Formats: sequence, C-alpha cells, structure tokens
Amino acid sequence: MPVVVLGVTGCIGAYKACEVLRELQRASVDVHVVMTAHATRFVSALTFESLSQHPVFVDQFELGSNSDIRHISLADAADLLLVAPATANAIGKFAQGIADDALSTLFLATRAPVLVAPALNVNMFEHEAVAENLETLRRRGVGIVEPGSGYLACGWLGRGRLAEVPEIVQAAMDVLARRQSMAGQRVLVTAGPTVEDIDPVRFVSNRSSGRMGYRLAEAARDRGATVILVSGPTALPPPGGVDFVPVRSAEQMAQAVSSRASAVDVVVMAAAVSDYRPARVSDVKVKKSDGGFPLEMVRTPDILRGLGQAKGALFLVGFAAETDHLREHARTKRREKNLDLLVANTVGQDGSGFAADTNAAVLMDADGEVEVPLTTKRALAERIWDRVAELRSRAPVKA
Ligand code: CTP
Repeated sequence: MPVVVLGVTGCIGAYKACEVLRELQRASVDVHVVMTAHATRFVSALTFESLSQHPVFVDQFELGSNSDIRHISLADAADLLLVAPATANAIGKFAQGIADDALSTLFLATRAPVLVAPALNVNMFEHEAVAENLETLRRRGVGIVEPGSGYLACGWLGRGRLAEVPEIVQAAMDVLARRQSMAGQRVLVTAGPTVEDIDPVRFVSNRSSGRMGYRLAEAARDRGATVILVSGPTALPPPGGVDFVPVRSAEQMAQAVSSRASAVDVVVMAAAVSDYRPARVSDVKVKKSDGGFPLEMVRTPDILRGLGQAKGALFLVGFAAETDHLREHARTKRREKNLDLLVANTVGQDGSGFAADTNAAVLMDADGEVEVPLTTKRALAERIWDRVAELRSRAPVKA
C-alpha cells in the first residue's frame, strides 16, 4: 500500500484536506498527517487522527515523537509528500530550506517526490516573493497543483484558491503511479562536462552545468528505477538514492560507462563529452613564453557510438546540442550512432541549453519527432522517460 504523508498548513482550506485524505484512502493509499501548529487552529489534530487512524505529527519535540525520530521515519516511509493546503509561509520555508517545525523538517528530510497545493489570497499569490519561491520549488522538481480562480475565503476575487479536491487527488495518484513505473529497471545516466587536463593548473572543458543529467537521474529514481549517475565535475550536489560515480576526463567517463553498460537496461548520455583532449598532459605547469601556445589535440573515444555499435537490447538515448541546423544535424547523429532516442536542443539561446534551468528540445526516434517547448529540465526529464517507456514497451525487453 503506498504511503502518502499529507502536510496540512494553517489556512481555511485545511478542512478540504480531510476530503483529500478520504479520497486517497478510497484509492487504497495509507495516509499519515503532519500539521503545522496553525493548521490545528482550523481543524483539530483529533479529526485527522480519527480519519487517518494514525497519530498526527505536529510537534517534533513532543514526548513520544522521538522514540523513532518521527520526522525521519515518516520521511523514509513516504512515497509522496503532499502539502495541501500550502500557505505562503510554508512555501517560503520549503524554498529557503528553513526547518523550524515538523512539516518543514520533514520536507528537507524526505527523498520522496513532493506535491504542493498552494492556497493564498490573490495578492499574496502574485507577490514576487511567493512567485519566486514557487519557481524555486518547481526548478527543484517539486510539483505544484496550481490554485484555481474564484471567490477566495477573504472575499477577494482572483487566483489563489486551493485546487479542487479531485484535482489534488488525481495529481497525487499520478505521482504514485509514476513512482512505480520504472521499478526493476536499471538505468545509467551521464551528466556534466568532461575536463581534459593540459597541465596541473590548466584544462579544456565546456559550459555544461550537468543539470539536465542530474534531473534525468532524479526523475528515474523517483519512478523506482535503480540509477547510476556518471558525472563529470559540476557544482551540483550528488542526488540522494542514486549510485554516484564521479569522473573527470572523457577517458574516465568512457571507462565508467563501458564497465557498467552490460548491467543496465537504458543508457542516457546527457554529458557533454569533450571530443578532443590534449595529446600530452604535462606533469609540471607549462611556463609561458613570448610565442603562442601550440596545443595539439587528439580525439577522445565516442562513448555513445561505441555503445551503439554493439548495443543488443540496450536502449540508447543520446543528446545533440547544436547552435544551427538543429534537426538535420540531430537526425544524422541519431542514425550514425544507432540511437533509440535522440534529444536535440539548441544551445546559445536564452533559457535553453547549457547552464539554464530550462530547456526546449525535439525528441527524435524511429517513429518521428516531438517538439517539447521551453520547460524546466525536470519536466523535460519526465517527458524523456515517458517517451523511453513508450518506445521500450514496443521493443523486446532485455532478459
Ligand atoms: N558523446 C559521447 N562521447 C563523445 C562525445 C559525445 O558519448 N566523445 C555523446 C554525448 O554524450 C551526446 C552525443 O554523443 O549524447 C553528442 O553527439 P556528438 O556527435 O558527439 O555531438 P557533438 O559533440 O556536439 O558533435 P559535433 O561536435 O560533431 O556536433
């Protein structure tokens, strides 16, 4: 039975959380409730305790809450943290990493997917601070059940009203269904740039931030897959719950991938692998001279092409970052590297490609091409895994 931790925060919409709880139970979900202190002034903890048939967690310092360190045990048990309704205060704390009560602590402690259903006055919803906090959460992969428009409890007319109960429940059920959708599958994702040393202080690299690969790894993890993330040097923290393999050069990445590829079902090469490396790496710092700096570069192994040449049942996904003639270049790459799916994106434009949190892409496979308009890298990652699932369901699955 899937476990949903239902976070209830202090606003009048709290009473609707009772209906959300009942509907989830009807769908065979085990619901545990965590309330903020203010939420208990709208609906009593007793109500939620009676409905959920579990103790309600309000205060992490209360005697009894620490025999099993409740915020950690609930965080671990959760298949989904659903916060409905979420006040501006709760959203702000989640976005800023403030952990000053049971719910905000649990938010930081859980590795489960998180859905937030805001309920605010229209002016609060439109305030820059709230909009930015919601954007931060979206970027980090938190799902937002968008509020509706209409009469608000405060008498104002506008956007901010808690989404309707069936919509919140549906969003939760979608996440739970997705959570199991890659159970038993083993995937390897590469991410980031590679770094090719010239000498102990200089190197050749590229602008890849690693975000696309990290979001892909996190999305696969949240769908229940066993994930290996082979990453070049990035500024990102390694995602929890994945087998993290840090590498530096293209050679090291090639080695890390090829030694693991036979143990996985899908390889996604999101890394921006250097095509060239310096022919020689100097052990000592190269001193400057009056002349130029001749740098002889030689080709690195094309990891993806190598996998494509003997891929058997391995499902291969490649990326193509192009500045021009996107589709033509990408089509050629897909064919030449024998890929099941190619994600083509334009680099060098605002909001797309390297270093941005958003991306637009064309997904290309043997059946055709689907355009994904500018969206968060996490949302693009979800689209990519959806497409992988569709295509794999038609192909014979590896034993
Ligand atoms: N790739 C790889 N090994 C390399 C270079 C690239 O596996 N040595 C992978 C990348 O991870 C990506 C895809 O191949 O999935 C990109 O294809 P590629 O033809 O190498 O793209 P570019 O490097 O952009 O090639 P070009 O410079 O010719 O456009």
